[in-house]
Amino acid sequence: MGGRALLAALCVWSHCLVALGEEPVAAPRNTAGKKSDFSGIESKFSLRTPEQPYEDTCFLVPGQENSVTQCNFNHTSKTFVVIHGWTVTGMYESWVSKLVKALYKREPDSNVIVVDWLVRASQHYTISASNTELVGKDVAKFVDWMEEQFGYSLNNVHLLGYSLGAHAAGIAGKLTNRKISRITGLDPAGPNFEYANETRRLSPDDAIFVDVLHTYTRGSPDRSIGIQKPVGHIDIYPNGGSFQPGCNLGETLLLIAEKGFQGFQEADQLVKCSHERSIHLFIDSLLYEEKPIMAYRCKSKEAFEMGLCLSCRKNRCNNLGYKVNKVRTKRSTKMYLKTRAKAPYKVFHYQVKIHFFAKKNMTETNQPFLISLFGTEEESKDIPVTLPEISTNKTFSFLVYTAVDIGDLLIVTMKWEKESIFNLKYWWNTPEFSIQRIRVKSGETQKKLVFCSRDGISYLRKGRGAAEFVRCLGKNAAKENS
Ligand SMILES: *[C@@H]1O[C@H](CO)[C@@H](O)[C@H](O)[C@H]1NC(C)=O
Ligand SMILES: *[C@@H]1O[C@H](CO)[C@@H](O)[C@H](O)[C@H]1NC(C)=O
Ligand SMILES: *[C@@H]1O[C@H](CO)[C@@H](O)[C@H](O)[C@H]1NC(C)=O
Ligand SMILES: *[C@@H]1O[C@H](CO)[C@@H](O)[C@H](O)[C@H]1NC(C)=O
Repeated sequence: MGGRALLAALCVWSHCLVALGEEPVAAPRNTAGKKSDFSGIESKFSLRTPEQPYEDTCFLVPGQENSVTQCNFNHTSKTFVVIHGWTVTGMYESWVSKLVKALYKREPDSNVIVVDWLVRASQHYTISASNTELVGKDVAKFVDWMEEQFGYSLNNVHLLGYSLGAHAAGIAGKLTNRKISRITGLDPAGPNFEYANETRRLSPDDAIFVDVLHTYTRGSPDRSIGIQKPVGHIDIYPNGGSFQPGCNLGETLLLIAEKGFQGFQEADQLVKCSHERSIHLFIDSLLYEEKPIMAYRCKSKEAFEMGLCLSCRKNRCNNLGYKVNKVRTKRSTKMYLKTRAKAPYKVFHYQVKIHFFAKKNMTETNQPFLISLFGTEEESKDIPVTLPEISTNKTFSFLVYTAVDIGDLLIVTMKWEKESIFNLKYWWNTPEFSIQRIRVKSGETQKKLVFCSRDGISYLRKGRGAAEFVRCLGKNAAKENS
């Protein structure tokens, strides 16, 4: 295959670059386990166990077959390889063991390996960033050795890399003799990588399937903590990808004010909060098997905010995280979703479409509304929504989401709020629109429903009571009201 040959050529090129000053290793290895191949490996491969997910108890040492036996590596199970990112403290961050635990909970027979490259990861950022080449090379050698020595299939290998670790995983994927099954990039690092040649960073060619979560892409490119451009087959941008709910500075300061020093420590967590959210979303997908979080293909986050992208036709929607459908397209697919501020993160998405009638021509901007959804199971009241614009005799579409699984939707109410600040414009004149029907489409169930005003027409006045809409009774009722 041409692509494969090209990849091999890049591998050699990449090898040459990082192997300068070392003995040549790019030549085909026809005898497995040549000791000299492994002498340069500094990364350590800790096979964690379900019983002790927190500790490095046994290391797999490339070239030493007995280490694999001693660590009870299961040759028939799949293997997860977790690669951490840059670290200031030189220690594992607390998410490592949480991810290991969640992987074992979902796949009890699997092998979960944590790559320890802490020494190389605790340098000046730029140095650690360039060390991803060395780490990727180490991981590739390790994986190739497992295949050559034990016939362990690379179809069983799933690399999970966070921040700089995502690029190390990408480099590893470029260098292995055969393609690795899957790489998951958890908010791959942005600085030094946003504009880097794809031979130096995570890219779709690095595994049979590459999925990426982008959770902290705020700021100008190359200064953003997480990479902004799509680098996988599927690139998911939760909450637009720039930052995550529950992670804002206001909440950080509040924590410090409330909790003093302890708050300060938690605040440090909040600084990394959006970046690390990528990991916790993935953990969520491992733990809540029966409630997969859905993401939707969309051309922009603005279009997603308008509720225009909740379709599942032709693979337009997918599961976030572990149970993603491995849909591969030539170009990266950008997907979006909303989440809660804490675990479990799943929300239910609805597109709401309304035609605003009025006798006068009016245009109002940035108007606050409260939407309530009443369903067969639960209700979700007073969901705040700000509409950028509403105007006479036009249809507007917007996104409403709630963490509550309301079941089948029965009633929708809508209330037009007054702004909290006094506005002279509305002192003597209360704007009013009339609404006949509300169209709602559920992203999670893909159901489309129409809701009618009980009286044929309902009036929505700013600062007044809520207008109520119920399921339209059959086709005729819908027609009568139109
Ligand atoms: C290895 O994993 C397989 C499933 O892939 C499982 O059936 C088997 O019991 C495991 N072996 C050991 C020794 O745990
Ligand atoms: C990336 O680097 C390779 C090898 O030097 C080069 O052939 C390729 O054109 C570069 N790609 C881009 C997009 O610059
Ligand atoms: C809006 O449409 C309604 C019904 O079609 C019509 O009665 C009304 O005059 C229109 N309003 C304006 C401002 O044109
Ligand atoms: C409202 O605006 C539309 C388009 O700008 C115009 O055609 C219509 O005549 C206006 N109606 C009234 C009642 O001013």
